[in-house]
Amino acid sequence: MKIAVYPGSFDPITNGHLDIIKRACKVFDKVIIGVLVNPNKAGLFTIDERVELITKVVKNIPNVEVESFSGLLINFMKKKESKIIIKGLRAVSDFEYELQMSLMNKKLDPEIETVFMMTSAINSFLSSSAVKQVAIFDGCIKDLVPDEIIPCIFKKIKEL
Ligand code: PNS
Repeated sequence: MKIAVYPGSFDPITNGHLDIIKRACKVFDKVIIGVLVNPNKAGLFTIDERVELITKVVKNIPNVEVESFSGLLINFMKKKESKIIIKGLRAVSDFEYELQMSLMNKKLDPEIETVFMMTSAINSFLSSSAVKQVAIFDGCIKDLVPDEIIPCIFKKIKEL
């Protein structure tokens, strides 16, 4: 059984993430979405809220699981019995950072492979930070994130 882990901050999940998840689910038997608990980076949503939003948008995809993790990704992967990391690549600017992480993970565990999926062109400009900026200034985030989480994003921003 080919189990892949798709790690990230997902603060919040975007249509770019969802596209990668859907495509990865066709390639692997199971995709585990790993939401990083990062004590050094306060986000808009708490970790539990991020997991809840992701769970809501992937509910109809049968071979996906969502879980949070802290510490090293390779330790989470060991726990989940996975050797495959999935990452999405948008532009050349992503490459350097992703190469560094992929090589570091390989150094920590040589059996790990990182599989990169190119963004769909329509999502190539998308990031969680850009979505938050637009939403904070009351801009339109339709087509940037799944429709069902738009009200949750605006509600959360109003609580800030
Ligand atoms: O969505 P992001 O913030 O770009 O995701 C980054 C993430 C979660 C993939 C990365 O920060 C990560 O794997 N963190 C866990 C710590 C770790 O294993 N570091 C070693 C690789 S440099």
